[in-house]
Amino acid sequence: MHDALRTATESDVPALVRLGTLAFGHEAESALAYHGLVGLSNIRVTDGPDGAPVAMLAEIPMGVRAGGSSVPAVGIAAVAVAPEARGGGCARRLMTACVRDLHARRVPVSALYASTLGLYRGVGYERSIASYAASIRFDDLPRSRGSDTGRRPWIPLSAAEEHGVAACYDAFARNLPGMVDRGAFFWSRIRRRMATEYRGFGLPSGDGASLEAYVFLAHRQSGSGVEMVISDCAFRSAVAGRALVDFLAGFATINTTAYLSLAPNHPLVRILPHERVEIKARSAVMLRLTHVEAALAARAIPVAVRGAVRIAFEDPTIPAQGTLLHVDMTDGRMKVQRAADTDRAALPHLHTGPRGLAAVYTGFVSPRQAQADGLMDGDGEALDLLGAALAGPPPFMTDMF
Ligand SMILES: CC(C)(COP(=O)(O)OP(=O)(O)OC[C@H]1O[C@@H](n2cnc3c(N)ncnc32)[C@H](O)[C@@H]1OP(=O)(O)O)[C@@H](O)C(=O)NCCC(=O)NCCS
Repeated sequence: MHDALRTATESDVPALVRLGTLAFGHEAESALAYHGLVGLSNIRVTDGPDGAPVAMLAEIPMGVRAGGSSVPAVGIAAVAVAPEARGGGCARRLMTACVRDLHARRVPVSALYASTLGLYRGVGYERSIASYAASIRFDDLPRSRGSDTGRRPWIPLSAAEEHGVAACYDAFARNLPGMVDRGAFFWSRIRRRMATEYRGFGLPSGDGASLEAYVFLAHRQSGSGVEMVISDCAFRSAVAGRALVDFLAGFATINTTAYLSLAPNHPLVRILPHERVEIKARSAVMLRLTHVEAALAARAIPVAVRGAVRIAFEDPTIPAQGTLLHVDMTDGRMKVQRAADTDRAALPHLHTGPRGLAAVYTGFVSPRQAQADGLMDGDGEALDLLGAALAGPPPFMTDMF
């Protein structure tokens, strides 16, 4: 592990609680519960002069959907520097050590929600996946009274349905770029976040072998009535999606508004017969290609896209991965090799760094847009070929971490 970074141990817990409470306003119990959920083995710290941690971050194993693939990723969360150590480059050193360490471990990509773009751009992250907070008024929910689904009953979900829930979510999220391939951390937060427990309901398939749809929801009182917070929902088909809307409409007599994470092109929004959903952009998720060759090889591309490009990749934060890459697009994958700096002119060519590739990796922007942003440069053929390989519906993430 890099000098500036070590894995937290039990004796660091008081210092970690102090960092978490001072950085995020958590109560000590919430900070402790968070460390328990993430696991001390996933918390990295930098020590101050007295040997106690002055900075921390949490690593969360996950996958990020891109091109229909689940790209192995490490989410970075809870980045915190003690107030007395701020303003002197501590967070920059912590993040530099972190991305170098992820590279050494061949982790393809890293993702995070940023409170300040400058810190993470400085080490090669760029905005790459949109994130939205949405609300739907119960008055606006259409109610079909189960006509589509033959009035199959919804069931309260117990731990026994865990696998059915995960299978329904995987089917739902597989082709939604930007969505998280969830591990235990994410599933735990869908069922409980801070003091709030979310209760699950599912729609079993006709033979009862799987779930067609599910939702996890909680209620809270507000001045204007009872509001619903939905931590997660998924469905396997438009019919099941309409059954979910119908199930939610059953709360309309008392509930006023449902709050959840959606996107303008989220399947739930697409099946509504109207556009009366309020969707507000939150900070976008930033991505970092921590192992550029592994990252390009990890995501699928359309089989119809064929060709080759040379990418001159420069990475000041991880100089070891700065290289000339030969990328062969064939059979729905990118085959990546380090190229000799000889016949450059023979192939379409582009020049970029980690921020440029992160911005285009999920299809968030096209290579031509990245060029306009000053994050990429190249000949038109190379930009268009890479753009065709990485294009897809606008990526969004509904999980927060
Ligand atoms: C954000 C935080 C981690 C920065 O720690 P730090 O050691 O002071 O940061 P650094 O000195 O390494 O600064 C690196 C970059 O971060 C950004 N940054 C740091 N403090 C900032 C602030 N108060 N406001 C906006 N950007 C800031 C700047 O881009 C800075 O680069 P610059 O100095 O070249 O402008 C620290 O202020 C903190 O713990 N804040 C509370 C928790 C938090 O916001 N965590 C981030 C969650 S994503």
